[in-house]
Amino acid sequence: MPFGFIIFYKDVVEEAAHMRKKFNVTGLCIPDRHYMVDTTDMIDQIISEYVEQGEYFTINRARQFGKTTTLELLYQKLKRKYIVIDISFEAADEYFQSLGSFARGIIMDISERLEDQGVPEALRKEWGEPVSEEFPLRDFGKKITALCSKSGREVILTVDEVDKNADNQIFLSFLGLLREKYLKQKSGRDHTFKSVILAGVYDIKNLKLKLKPGCIIII
Ligand SMILES: Nc1ncnc2c1ncn2[C@@H]1O[C@H](COP(=O)(O)OP(=O)(O)OP(=O)(O)O)[C@@H](O)[C@H]1O
Ligand SMILES: [Mg+2]
Repeated sequence: MPFGFIIFYKDVVEEAAHMRKKFNVTGLCIPDRHYMVDTTDMIDQIISEYVEQGEYFTINRARQFGKTTTLELLYQKLKRKYIVIDISFEAADEYFQSLGSFARGIIMDISERLEDQGVPEALRKEWGEPVSEEFPLRDFGKKITALCSKSGREVILTVDEVDKNADNQIFLSFLGLLREKYLKQKSGRDHTFKSVILAGVYDIKNLKLKLKPGCIIII
């Protein structure tokens, strides 16, 4: 085959692949389908400086800044090494009725992610067992411990639209639980998520004012 033709053919194929991409101005950007600013360096930096150091941190930026897209890019990279549980509070208003409904809702969401990530059935079954009516959040905490100690791979939690119900006491209790387990893990007395990434518009560190006395968010 003439060399010139090969180059021409390659150009046509590349052009066709290129043309399938579109500019996207609504919602999540996907690298294979949309023209995107290359954020590889930023993603790698977040992973090496925060996730791998076991940090619990927030990504708080204005609307339409690229938070959801950043979480998706992190997910794609992190899932090669970790179990990544990516949930969103975007459509979870009904979870915030009571601690019981919150625990059941979030456990259901996480169950789906565990299945997607190939977590063994026995562990998923244990995860899916009903929570105590009396102490649903405590039970949720125990499930996190069981999952993170038995899963074989470290577990990362990402929560998008985390501040959607920021003024709700249930949300603050959830943050309190994450914080308590994070601190216990640091002192070797618990197993929990290696890293937690919370994305939202507001800086949830400011929410500490709303927390019950003695409960301060450090994430
Ligand atoms: N890497 C990127 N390159 C080009 N455009 C991008 C990129 N990331 C995001 N965008 C643009 O920003 C828009 C919003 O992205 P995204 O939904 O990730 O933001 P967001 O901060 O989660 O928004 P919201 O606060 O409304 O949830 C996308 O539809 C796209 O137009
Ligand atoms: Mg978003």
